[in-house]
Amino acid sequence: MRDSLHRSRAALLSALLVVAACHPQPSAAPAPTAIVEPRDATRVAQAAAAAAFPSGWRFPVGVKPTEAEHAMVVSNSRLASEAGIEILRAGGNAVDAAVATGFALAVTYPSAGNIGGGGFMNIRMADGRSMTLDYREMAPLASSRDMYIDANGKLTNKSTVGYLASGVPGSVAGMSEALKKYGSFTLAQVMAPAIRLAEQGFMVDSQFARGIENSRRAITPFEGKAVFFPGGEAVKAGARFVQSDLARTLKLIAEKGPKAFYEGPIADSLVAEEQRGGGIITKEDLRRYKPEWRTPIKSTYRGYTLLAMPPSSSGGITMTETLNILENFAPLPPAGSVKYAHLLAESYRRAFMDRNSKLGDPAFVKNPLHQLTSKTYAKVLATQIDLNHASKTPAFETRAEGMQTTHYSVVDNMGNAVATTTTLNGGYGSGVWVRGGGFFMNNEMDDFAAQPGTPNMFGLVQGEANSIRPGKRMLSAMDPTIVLDPEGKLLMVTGAAGGPTIITATMEVILNVIEHHMTLADAMRAPRLHHQALPDALRYEPNGLSAAVVDSLKAMGHTVSSQNGLANVNSILRVPGGWHGVYEPRSVGGAVGY
Ligand code: DON
Repeated sequence: MRDSLHRSRAALLSALLVVAACHPQPSAAPAPTAIVEPRDATRVAQAAAAAAFPSGWRFPVGVKPTEAEHAMVVSNSRLASEAGIEILRAGGNAVDAAVATGFALAVTYPSAGNIGGGGFMNIRMADGRSMTLDYREMAPLASSRDMYIDANGKLTNKSTVGYLASGVPGSVAGMSEALKKYGSFTLAQVMAPAIRLAEQGFMVDSQFARGIENSRRAITPFEGKAVFFPGGEAVKAGARFVQSDLARTLKLIAEKGPKAFYEGPIADSLVAEEQRGGGIITKEDLRRYKPEWRTPIKSTYRGYTLLAMPPSSSGGITMTETLNILENFAPLPPAGSVKYAHLLAESYRRAFMDRNSKLGDPAFVKNPLHQLTSKTYAKVLATQIDLNHASKTPAFETRAEGMQTTHYSVVDNMGNAVATTTTLNGGYGSGVWVRGGGFFMNNEMDDFAAQPGTPNMFGLVQGEANSIRPGKRMLSAMDPTIVLDPEGKLLMVTGAAGGPTIITATMEVILNVIEHHMTLADAMRAPRLHHQALPDALRYEPNGLSAAVVDSLKAMGHTVSSQNGLANVNSILRVPGGWHGVYEPRSVGGAVGY
């Protein structure tokens, strides 16, 4: 009965994997620019010596990061990072730069950067104030619990492709709200680089061109084909890529504020597009959309403090629960060892079981936040881990993720920090392109339990806590995170794309730095592991574990499978004399500082 569902979802998955696969090998990526030499090269060299990757692993140890004395922006687009730095150099703060980077990503990284999607922003000001902004999409008012189930009780693919797949976009409202509250520049000022990039265009590189070609199936059924496939051919490397409709849209937002998007001419275009294709987002949906300020999930790990994302994202709670479990094992076994992989897998399994069954939009679900983040509870879970044998995940209700998101990290010269993750969910979202507006719509509705109990496009099964309700936010895994050192000083700004691997990869990069004493460059290049309870399998990257470690894990009872490129992380680390910035070596991007 689920064959057709699996077929259509498998097709989508493979399309999305192609998008992921188009990310270049590290040798093809532009070399990061070293801005200044590290002040404390000895310390860095010693730290680098702490990392040892398995033989055959794709990345070497000891690669240099981008170094900067004052400020840093790291994102999946070098042009977008430069947009952030332009604003910082002009005297803007980290929030100004984050908003500039976010709008620029909508132009230069259209598979995930967006104004038709949503996201989460984690801000820590240098004076210690700390807050998060939830600008996640919401289910339209005309949505309903079973809207993706056909007359035969089968789940359709309408939560992933086409007009019904979109939640009400939150990005423009969120970025504007963050700027209004904590920025120091106007929207027009911070949007100027994005408008320039859309209006004057930018040079298409081979990775961008390949990404578009590989997404032909997602883009061409809708009106974006005229922009991305002029004359039927994907935009070509070396061409200048101009997006006039998007430029006009961005100018309207810059001049008139978010109202232009939610009530003005852009809302008109968006709703007209919805009506043409049988979508259900209305002017009323757009008018009612509001971002939410929320208190960060604050936790400690061996004296370090983590500030992370609360629901409607599961990121902060799940990371906190995992780290609280791991804190019971001191010191952690070395990275790459059987014991480490086993401990991570068993801790992830327990934290994801809670996440998958208990969390949802706090406006609709009572999240057991205190229990799940408590050290006492984690101690109980830790004592249940058998150090020699894998446990099994019992059947329970879980939930789902998508495949194209983007995270960016910003610090300014005053020590303000912003971690932001934003997404359309799948690459190019639902594929729907708003005519006249010049942007893609998200397919975030698939993050809901479209049919509680049935696997989504990634094989995960979601529970009732995350079923569709009008006005509800779909549960996310996005986890923009800020780490403070034991003295309470800003240490790291990080986060990731990659569905549920967001949580595990973000946490592993943090652990690589604070527990395994790697440089940020090594921490980002180190092999990653992932377990999300169901499917009950420990995933690792090819050659990321030695054959002997894989055999031992199997002997312990783990199902082990390899997967290329787990997650897409962009991070900044404070070092003596400034900052290290590293964009995802498995993907594209730029770390730019001054
Ligand atoms: O909110 C979420 O958890 C998902 N929509 C994120 C999707 C994602 O990370 C895809 N990334 N590559």
